[in-house]
Amino acid sequence: MNITFRQLEVFEAVARLLSYTRASKELHLSQPAVSMQIKQLEENTGLPLFEQLGRKIYLTEAGREMHHYCRSISQQLEEAEEVLGQLKGLKTGRLEVTVATTANAFATQMLAMFSKQHEGVTISLDVTNRERLLHQLAENEKDIAIMGRPPEDAELVTEVFADNPLVVVAAPDHPLVKEQSIPLYMLQDQTFVVREQGSGTRTAMQRFFSEHEMTITSSMEMNENEAIKQSVQAGMGLGVVSIHTIELELETKRLTILNVENFPIMRHWYLVHRKDKRLSPIAQAFCQFVLSKANEFVKVDYML
Ligand code: PGA
Repeated sequence: MNITFRQLEVFEAVARLLSYTRASKELHLSQPAVSMQIKQLEENTGLPLFEQLGRKIYLTEAGREMHHYCRSISQQLEEAEEVLGQLKGLKTGRLEVTVATTANAFATQMLAMFSKQHEGVTISLDVTNRERLLHQLAENEKDIAIMGRPPEDAELVTEVFADNPLVVVAAPDHPLVKEQSIPLYMLQDQTFVVREQGSGTRTAMQRFFSEHEMTITSSMEMNENEAIKQSVQAGMGLGVVSIHTIELELETKRLTILNVENFPIMRHWYLVHRKDKRLSPIAQAFCQFVLSKANEFVKVDYML
């Protein structure tokens, strides 16, 4: 059989509409051109595909079979077109990611690796606190966010991908470092350096202490984990930070995790996007990447 796609396309329209006139209108062809394509197709198949009874045309048995295969061929073609389109989308395009300040270190490494694998893609990374990040999602400014658990919201799709333990850190010469096990109430006599309002870490810390009916004293408020770590090292107080922000300080022994009762506060890291956002192929690929590579980038084997 020497069938062409054009013949199949014309046949599909005539078979669906059961009218040469309507098919020719839909395809923007003259009626003789439509009849010609059908005639050639019938010659190619060696069987009549339509029969005319009065003014109406009907599919013959061969026509019905042909129509069935014709539909599955066009579905396959559409699928092929979509897959190829997605492949094109993975080679170019733009990805807008926003990450919580606290996730900055591992998220930047993840993005660096992802970007090496997708060189034609432009990636924009915004690092900000939880409150600002929720605002960006609400305003549909970003494709994907990496953050702590977002509020229960029917408008957001969330997927957890790693633990995020919050620990109490102190300078290595802090008197509490010598203690093997520190009862929670002892923190009441301590001074803390805390994150700014709007930080997820701060909210989690406040919630934790209020659940344990404790008020803690803070000496200073800072909007960066870096600043908190510096101040704690300088002996200005204790800090409650995500373990993912202190990898280097633990290695170089510039900070120590205190063994406080009921700690760590166990939070989690989430991939978040708006439900109504049609994720581009590259954004979908990034989500897959984060979910499958999280273990490599987000360290979990700390001694707590
Ligand atoms: P943040 O991040 O403390 O830097 O705001 C954590 C979170 O989103 O929960």
